[in-house]
Amino acid sequence: MKIFLTGANGLLGTAMVRELARHDAYSLVATDRAEVDITNADATHKAIVDARPDWVINCAAFTRVDDCETNEALACDVNGEGAGNLAAAAAHVGAGLVHISTDYIFDGTATSPIPVDTIPGSPEQLSTYGRSKLLGEQRVRSNHPSPTIVRTAWLYGHDGPCFPNAITRLATEGKLRKVVHDQRGSPTFANDLADGIIRLIHAKGTGNVHLVNDGQCTWFEFANEILRLAGIDCPIEPCTTAEFPRPAKRPAYSVLDLSRYESLTTHRPRSWQAAIAAYFDAAT
Ligand SMILES: NC(=O)c1ccc[n+]([C@@H]2O[C@H](COP(=O)([O-])OP(=O)(O)OC[C@H]3O[C@@H](n4cnc5c(N)ncnc54)[C@H](OP(=O)(O)O)[C@@H]3O)[C@@H](O)[C@H]2O)c1
Repeated sequence: MKIFLTGANGLLGTAMVRELARHDAYSLVATDRAEVDITNADATHKAIVDARPDWVINCAAFTRVDDCETNEALACDVNGEGAGNLAAAAAHVGAGLVHISTDYIFDGTATSPIPVDTIPGSPEQLSTYGRSKLLGEQRVRSNHPSPTIVRTAWLYGHDGPCFPNAITRLATEGKLRKVVHDQRGSPTFANDLADGIIRLIHAKGTGNVHLVNDGQCTWFEFANEILRLAGIDCPIEPCTTAEFPRPAKRPAYSVLDLSRYESLTTHRPRSWQAAIAAYFDAAT
């Protein structure tokens, strides 16, 4: 089976390349912006037509959430129209499409795990990044007959900047004191997300799918677990989002319900605690 991957040098894309290489069944065309800029519809179409893949996996995105606030046009171009270009090209060659989306399309007011058919937040409730990713979902659905839209959250891994390496670096530098304790979500290891995406392709699962590590915590609780596993003695205090203002709004609650993923794949992702332990095991 031939897979065409975008965003191959990113946090998820790199893990995706590694996970796919563990399976003999797949041949891979891995691309990043230098090879295929997804905002260029003609170049994207040509690359897909030349490769003739069975599946396209879109890991390309403009992901710097706070920078999106001052770069709305670029965010919508990459996360919205770019995703649509890729979907149209995949549909043209009859390929399946896995498009990666985010918990940031929700308004954060839920109080229990969010099912796949939940109505997204209204534009004024979302960050610019969230709006641009929601536009991407809409473009993907318009341009492809049966896309797989995988929403994930709180992603970390070995191949890019992420919360665990920021926490360990700040603690080591003596600069970590307070961590936000009023946002709740599911930390997700990029390796586990990549494994889940392969399971979805294997199951030919389409539609909206939520895929995160199992369980939930706040950033403060996640930071404490990171410090414990890293063996760093650095007492931290819980704080509110209001005490730590950022340009982009973050959802207060973004725990995603896994039941559709489980019914498609008969697999339940491991707990976030097991996943962060595996992240540290793999790093040593
Ligand atoms: N990180 C998270 O916490 C998180 C949470 C929920 C969902 N997600 C979603 O998960 C997916 C993967 O995220 P990630 O964290 O792996 O992102 P990432 O590390 O920022 O990687 C994104 C990749 O996309 C590439 N890219 C940017 N613009 C492009 C363009 N116009 N054409 C082709 N490639 C382009 C980037 O290349 P350059 O480096 O050259 O720009 C980069 O390699 C994204 O859809 C993201 O929205 C992420």
